Amino acid sequence: MSIKISRKTGEITIKTANTMYVMARKYEDYLVHMYYGKNSRGVKYDYNYPITSFSPYHEEIGLEYLPDIVKSEFSFFGYGDFRAEALKLRDLSTGSDTTMFTFVKARKFAGRRNIPGLPYAEADDNTETLEITMRDAVTGCELKLYYTVFADCDVISRYFTLENKGKNSVRIEKCMMLCLDIPTKELDMINFPGAHCFERMYKRGRIMDGNQRIYSRRGSSSHHQNPFFMLCDPKATEERGAAYGFNLVYSGSYLSEVETEQCGTTRVLSGLGSDNFNYLLLPGETFESPEAVVTYSDRGIGQVSRNMHKFVRNHILPKDKFPLRPVVLNSWEAFYFDIDENVMEDFAAEAERIGMDMLVMDDGWFGKRLSDNAGLGDWYPNPDRFKNGLRPFIERVKAKGVKFGIWIEPEMVNPDSDLYRAHPDWILRAPGREPLQSRWQYMLDMANPHVIQYLKDSFKENLGGLPIDYFKWDMNRHLSEVYSPTLPPERQGEVGFRYMKGVYDLIAWFGEEFPDAMIETCSGGGGRYDLGMMKYSTQIWTSDNTYPYWRAFIQHGSTFGYPCATMSCHVANHNGSVNDPRQLEFGFRTALNGPLGYEFNVLAIGDEVKDTLSRQIKEYREYEKLILGGDFYRLLDPHKNGRYSYYFASEDNSEILLTYLQIPDDPKKTPNKLKISRAEVGATYRDTISGETFSGAELKKGITVISDEHGNYAKMFHFVKE
Ligand code: GLA
Repeated sequence: MSIKISRKTGEITIKTANTMYVMARKYEDYLVHMYYGKNSRGVKYDYNYPITSFSPYHEEIGLEYLPDIVKSEFSFFGYGDFRAEALKLRDLSTGSDTTMFTFVKARKFAGRRNIPGLPYAEADDNTETLEITMRDAVTGCELKLYYTVFADCDVISRYFTLENKGKNSVRIEKCMMLCLDIPTKELDMINFPGAHCFERMYKRGRIMDGNQRIYSRRGSSSHHQNPFFMLCDPKATEERGAAYGFNLVYSGSYLSEVETEQCGTTRVLSGLGSDNFNYLLLPGETFESPEAVVTYSDRGIGQVSRNMHKFVRNHILPKDKFPLRPVVLNSWEAFYFDIDENVMEDFAAEAERIGMDMLVMDDGWFGKRLSDNAGLGDWYPNPDRFKNGLRPFIERVKAKGVKFGIWIEPEMVNPDSDLYRAHPDWILRAPGREPLQSRWQYMLDMANPHVIQYLKDSFKENLGGLPIDYFKWDMNRHLSEVYSPTLPPERQGEVGFRYMKGVYDLIAWFGEEFPDAMIETCSGGGGRYDLGMMKYSTQIWTSDNTYPYWRAFIQHGSTFGYPCATMSCHVANHNGSVNDPRQLEFGFRTALNGPLGYEFNVLAIGDEVKDTLSRQIKEYREYEKLILGGDFYRLLDPHKNGRYSYYFASEDNSEILLTYLQIPDDPKKTPNKLKISRAEVGATYRDTISGETFSGAELKKGITVISDEHGNYAKMFHFVKE
């Protein structure tokens, strides 16, 4: 039983395998946060306020309950709590933005409440949900807070519904699904800022007094920040110490806030924020929020990552659909836009000879798409490039013995396209202003249901019924001028949110229309690397940056919140690097951090290189189950001295795959101790690569890898228990 509601004490307790979460009713009406942490008995809640001055209070309760200082389960704007709020609601009949929701009732049920039109974590037989109903007496609105408990991975999710049961319209002016008051401000924050081609650069630092924000205003979770972040004890390491992980099951603009306050506590909020979001709720209407997730571990940062990995694998990713992944050959870095059926067929034949599983035909196959300034929106095959259309071409490709994947970018349109010429009113644009372009493209108004219907019809007409095994779903600009001509002025604050719902509607339709096809999402590389997209896509193109040097950093950052199974990793050819055995080896070993692919012209390489690729693919096949489903442990952080090391362990510790990547030269040949905590003392492990044997105790204490004199050096060990 993971949820207990005690009518006697007013306490509600949630338990997962290793954590406990406690809240309580105080003074009948108020829901106070008591505890979130390690599962232990006798939790004490400190109710002594060190400072009471300048805090508003209720006359009948007095200083015993100060809304500004109490640890709150959920926080509201305007009624005595000066800290950042979870919910801000404006009563449009009076203009007042003060609200206070008070406790009405709590119940629990098996499974979860599904969120219509939005991605959410799937429940299993052990999932339970707590529903807390609250009411604001003045507006008459009813708030239902949901806590869904995924006990197997120590994750609790938070989402809510807000129903306007009053007589007047209200507007949601800030929406945060997760609100957590942590009893200390001695915390480090780990977050993942970046840019296009430099996604998820790991950063760790002490939180400052005040309010720190992690956010995207780009209509997409973005390359520039990631909704996953952590807070931890400043002394916490990969293996030790208290740490929290937070994320959103959402792909649009978002806001997370970490705010310290006067008594030494920290409030964490995560949700849609207020910059790009407000939502009109007429009497009788209900708003359904997206879902936020939180996990905690007292066993270090690495365990928080593993909790998240398990959660994503078990509850987010399309389940059991694609346990193994195709090794793909992608046409983009090989030919860019210069493709046609002949070159693609030759490419497919070579892919098959080398041992690859799938040809992915990237950009350039449709409309007048000869470069990036035309064609987006026109999803019919270019008749000059595909003489008899796609079907006979795909059949010929498949006859060569490989699967077939295709690139699409449904959310966008070039001004130079039939679609834009026919429907210039179908893009997001601010009234009276010249629409801005980015990569010569506009965003379609995905908040307009006619646009979504058109896209479904168009993809059905052009691709429906074709034997496509894989879609690469791209998104190559961010949302500016977020205004939809189809909505009235008072609903323009909803456009970004409705845009995302349109995208989810369309991508879910693809899943139904092409049930056997795998979807890999992409946004100029890893610009939409989030749980929302992972709900529909088995893997994500990690970055447009395919230099192994940078990939080490990007992949390292991605592993904190996401399982390696989501991280599409390709070997590329930079200035002939595939002809240099050392660089090809380094590129391959760097790519063995996720599902493998290749991205260069295999028609223009020698037989020796082809043989190497065939050997690489065979080797990947030996490890792929471990890479896709093993428990992941980070050992060396590339930001420290250019060395990235990690290992995967099978659940029963019988198989361990250890990687050491060294970027810079090291004439000093420094020893690196790599400790395999999951090795079993008493067991013997054989490294299938070198043939050497090691005792489990030896691996646990740490094996020593000597740095190579020269950079771009990779060493791997594949330990199998004897
Ligand atoms: C984006 C993707 C690339 C490629 C191009 C095609 O940049 O990230 O992998 O598909 O678009 O235009």
